[in-house]
Amino acid sequence: MHYCSLLLLLAAPSALAKCKCTPGDDCWPSALKWKALNSTVQGHLIANEPLAKPCYTGDMERCQEISAEYLDSFTLEKSPIGYQYSAIDTCAPLNSSKPLAGQPMCDLGNSPVYSINATNPDHIVAGIKFAKDNNVRLVIKNTGHDVRGRSQGYGSLSIWMRNIKPKLKFQKTYTSSNNSCKSDWAGSAINVGGGYVWNDVYAFAAKHGVIAVGGDDKSVGAVGGYIQGAGHGPASHAFGLATDQVLEYQVMLASGELVTANACQYQDLFTALRGGGGGTFGVVVSATIKAHPTRAVLQHTLEITPKTGNQSRIIKTVAGIVSKFPILSDEGFAGIGGFTKIGNVLAYTHNFGVLLEKNTSSEIEHAKEVMTTEVANALSKYNGTQLSVKSQFAQHDTFQDYYASGSHYEGAAKGIILISRFFDKKSMLHQEKNLTSMLTTLFSKLDSGVQSPGISLTLALIGGGEVLKSQPYTSVHPAWRKTYMIAEQVEIAPPESGMEGLRQVWGRATHKKLKAMKDVTPGMGTYLNEADPYDPDWKEAWYGDQYDSLKVAKNKYDPDNVFWCWRCVGSEGWDEVKGPTLYGPLCENN
Ligand SMILES: Cc1cc2nc3c(=O)[nH]c(=O)nc-3n(C[C@H](O)[C@H](O)[C@H](O)COP(=O)(O)OP(=O)(O)OC[C@H]3O[C@@H](n4cnc5c(N)ncnc54)[C@H](O)[C@@H]3O)c2cc1C
Ligand SMILES: *[C@@H]1O[C@H](CO)[C@@H](O)[C@H](O)[C@H]1NC(C)=O
Ligand SMILES: *[C@@H]1O[C@H](CO)[C@@H](O)[C@H](O)[C@H]1NC(C)=O
Ligand SMILES: *[C@@H]1O[C@H](CO)[C@@H](O)[C@H](O)[C@H]1NC(C)=O
Ligand SMILES: *[C@@H]1O[C@H](CO)[C@@H](O)[C@H](O)[C@H]1NC(C)=O
Ligand SMILES: *[C@@H]1O[C@H](CO)[C@@H](O)[C@H](O)[C@H]1NC(C)=O
Ligand SMILES: *[C@@H]1O[C@H](CO)[C@@H](O)[C@H](O)[C@H]1NC(C)=O
Ligand SMILES: *[C@@H]1O[C@H](CO)[C@@H](O)[C@H](O)[C@H]1NC(C)=O
Ligand SMILES: *[C@@H]1O[C@H](CO)[C@@H](O)[C@H](O)[C@H]1NC(C)=O
Repeated sequence: MHYCSLLLLLAAPSALAKCKCTPGDDCWPSALKWKALNSTVQGHLIANEPLAKPCYTGDMERCQEISAEYLDSFTLEKSPIGYQYSAIDTCAPLNSSKPLAGQPMCDLGNSPVYSINATNPDHIVAGIKFAKDNNVRLVIKNTGHDVRGRSQGYGSLSIWMRNIKPKLKFQKTYTSSNNSCKSDWAGSAINVGGGYVWNDVYAFAAKHGVIAVGGDDKSVGAVGGYIQGAGHGPASHAFGLATDQVLEYQVMLASGELVTANACQYQDLFTALRGGGGGTFGVVVSATIKAHPTRAVLQHTLEITPKTGNQSRIIKTVAGIVSKFPILSDEGFAGIGGFTKIGNVLAYTHNFGVLLEKNTSSEIEHAKEVMTTEVANALSKYNGTQLSVKSQFAQHDTFQDYYASGSHYEGAAKGIILISRFFDKKSMLHQEKNLTSMLTTLFSKLDSGVQSPGISLTLALIGGGEVLKSQPYTSVHPAWRKTYMIAEQVEIAPPESGMEGLRQVWGRATHKKLKAMKDVTPGMGTYLNEADPYDPDWKEAWYGDQYDSLKVAKNKYDPDNVFWCWRCVGSEGWDEVKGPTLYGPLCENN
């Protein structure tokens, strides 16, 4: 938790160093200036209003409609201030005008004040220039999935990418946009504009019989923060991280110049945007990504539910399975596993697939045998007595059929607290005991403070395979190249417990639960797109030894800090002056 010092709470931002202008400041641009910006962007400027405002103005009919769609990702993506996994919600669609304890009535909170509904690169340039000329905070927003609030910003102007949607283009054989830039990639490629989500790209790839390496969740943006920060999913084991697939980017620089970054030009920018994270180096207008011929898939699903209320049996059992994950991964299995705890019942499920290289019966039989001997057999002694176990194989002719057989849609949630950690082979293989103790900590109360009503732990077996191979011109945390699994725990602060509840659940998550994950994974780190925003070791944990060279690229391409997000590369010089609300004006550090 980010505890603010009393001093900071009392000091008005203006008493500190230079700050970005916020509404209410004398330096905030006049209505006339905003009007001029609006005409520069052909009427595409939006003055934002909290989504659930009608709930607070007595328009109950509209309020009901909003409530019904409030947690639907695809609906939220149509709003310039639709945020999917935010910790704080300053205008919940309450069924009365009674605010939650500790929350203001209904305001924009850390959502941008204005958004440019950009449909072409000129709109992006106009936003950058306006923010620079008027000392206004600028943010880039795509789908709003970010769990660290990087696409939000108190008092900001936002460049909203969703409607940058030039037609998706398929190249049977890739050729670089610059003829003199020879690529060693002779396969297919897809050119994806900044506003597309994986759902769009998957449908397009299916039409061409190819696999695009994208997210497990289809509502995540394709070439925004996801791909710039690494990107994992059901095909990453077979082909590498999503960012490894990028052949070139079209980028709008802070200078207003539109450039192509690839292995021949702007290599340092190309490298920074392949792992260093979104929101800070420039605005990605489009990316050209590799596309791979589709594969047949062997699927394995496992479902374990306890027959008694005793959760130590299932924890030990799952620790045993997780200790075999590296073996399963080396055999080709990848996918999402995990626990859900609702009330007192802890159950485990996984949905894994082998993207078959040869599609022969011997390849299939071998994979089945490994899964059966390593996992299924060990479960049978508890089956029917302490646990109930369902283990099943299925075959799919194409990757698309496999993907379509699962749900791959999580939806939005508010009050979310996430912690995560990379696991390498060493931290899993033969580590049943350590894993058991970690899992026990994750699912324990630990203290008498406010508790989350539900805990879920995702065991994402999305590394291994091609992810382990370092690629030139990438800047992901080096620990990615050892990672087999990411463990991600999500908790929710009970809404009625207000800010104090959020603080307690979060403090425990960071200092006890994340610590338990770190204790069994020495020297690893975590995925910056799915990290606990309050991790005290963030720089090391998210960037490893890449940070310094990323910072060089940041200083070169955005020397004036036009782009800024909290704990993004180059963010040190500035900070939000946070009140009890966890957000506030952006000011230069003294
Ligand atoms: C429900 C859910 C499921 C998820 N599933 C996966 C998954 O399967 N695999 C995975 O790897 N991750 C997953 N994530 C994490 C995801 O990668 C991050 O949330 C990521 O930040 C989303 O990027 P976005 O552009 O869609 O979101 P946004 O919140 O809009 O943007 C995220 C960051 O990128 C910046 N940004 C956005 N667009 C651009 C652009 N065009 N140019 C420059 N910067 C830009 C923003 O400024 C911000 O800093 C998931 C998250 C959620 C909430
Ligand atoms: C920008 O102009 C359009 C078209 O004239 C208008 O609909 C919109 O409300 C304006 N935006 C703002 C913030 O005034
Ligand atoms: C709104 O509140 C009223 C009265 O408290 C209740 O009867 C009704 O079910 C609530 N509606 C919703 C959508 O929660
Ligand atoms: C954004 O612009 C697109 C394209 O012009 C338009 O279809 C859409 O309605 C706009 N969205 C909002 C919220 O104004
Ligand atoms: C093409 O790439 C070469 C380097 O390989 C570079 O010198 C040249 O400027 C590039 N041309 C364009 C139009 O980007
Ligand atoms: C895999 O093999 C099956 C059975 O022979 C076949 O139907 C399917 O089309 C093959 N899939 C691929 C991607 O080659
Ligand atoms: C729960 O099961 C474990 C063995 O897995 C056992 O040691 C423990 O005593 C059991 N606890 C209860 C309350 O039954
Ligand atoms: C567990 O027991 C059930 C019921 O007897 C059986 O159908 C199932 O196949 C068993 N599962 C495993 C993995 O052996
Ligand atoms: C596992 O736990 C033991 C002691 O309980 C410890 O010595 C060892 O270092 C741990 N292994 C890892 C990988 O953390």
